Amino acid sequence: MQNETLRPENTPAGLAGFTPSISRSANAHREGTLLDKYGRRITYVRLSITDRCDFRCTYCMSEEMTFLPRQEVMSLEECLRVASVFVGLGVNKLRITGGEPLVRKDVMWLIERLGALPGLKNLVLTTNGSQLERFAQPLRSAGVKRINISLDTLQAERFRNITRIGELGKVLAGIEAARAAGFTRTKLNTVMMRGVNDDEFVDLVRFAVDQELDISFIEEMPLGEIHGRGNTFISSEETRSRLAEHFDLIPSTESSDGPARYWRIPGSESRIGFISPHSHNFCDTCNRVRITAKGELYPCLGQNDASNLLPALRSGDDAAVRQLIVDSMGIKPYGHDFTQQMDAPQVVRFMSMTGG
Ligand code: 5AD
Ligand code: SF4
Repeated sequence: MQNETLRPENTPAGLAGFTPSISRSANAHREGTLLDKYGRRITYVRLSITDRCDFRCTYCMSEEMTFLPRQEVMSLEECLRVASVFVGLGVNKLRITGGEPLVRKDVMWLIERLGALPGLKNLVLTTNGSQLERFAQPLRSAGVKRINISLDTLQAERFRNITRIGELGKVLAGIEAARAAGFTRTKLNTVMMRGVNDDEFVDLVRFAVDQELDISFIEEMPLGEIHGRGNTFISSEETRSRLAEHFDLIPSTESSDGPARYWRIPGSESRIGFISPHSHNFCDTCNRVRITAKGELYPCLGQNDASNLLPALRSGDDAAVRQLIVDSMGIKPYGHDFTQQMDAPQVVRFMSMTGG
């Protein structure tokens, strides 16, 4: 985009040289869209509504987690206001995430109101599935379009080892409840870990095909201080070539508006995706920003730069919130580099803070 300089109208004669200029891209914000320095349009927000979770996945949390004191977490009303401001700036897709969003008290109060926001075309949710039996139907009725469910294994004992406290049966019942509530194209997210679940990738794909689900395999990202990730890392490329020994994988040009690249299996509707922050840098087409449960805006998952929206939210000043969001476009970096960081993370947040 051309950064053509415009002068504000009615600049008094003689003052032109002293009046700050506005660029066309700044103007674009005023017209209700978000453009960053590199011309990427931000239309997608991932909103973490809690850092708490009823699981303690080994790659996501340490065994003893300290969660945020409640007063530091956005209220549901503040979550709704920040979402509305983004929608007013042209954001049309919102993903509710966590922690585990469905453990947040009165979560449906928020989701019903988000579902009714004019301009928000695509309200979606990422969950660990543990509470879906109870929530699938209300979520559907509130207008949630699609659900992503984390599932790294189909073996109960292994599931317990990975999540430390989770129960596989509840998640499987949750998947069933989502189907019964009318959700289609539900997606499984599987974090790939060598020596932990890599012997199950074929089974997980068969399960997805059987249950008419999509599945994305995710390269583990170095978020938070958890040591020894280098040993369990598996690239998307390795998994894809291992799967190709069992399935006919046809590259698909579709995107789900995200960083995954997809393959299809002939005769099945299921999409097999790979999210590869290491081996395939997806920053070029990044259209998203993240809001943590504390009300911090992270323009990029892989960088520490953030802008704190909470004080402006707490003072009830939505115009100030809007301005902070617009200004944050200036700190959205061009890209991330996780590959050098596997055992020495530069990003010290856990995924449960930023939201997946
Ligand atoms: N690396 C990759 N994926 C992660 N997730 C949580 N922590 C990590 C990590 N360090 C996944 C969860 C969930 C998604 C939102 O993010 O398993 O599927
Ligand atoms: Fe909870 Fe998801 Fe983190 Fe697991 S990965 S501990 S389910 S937030």
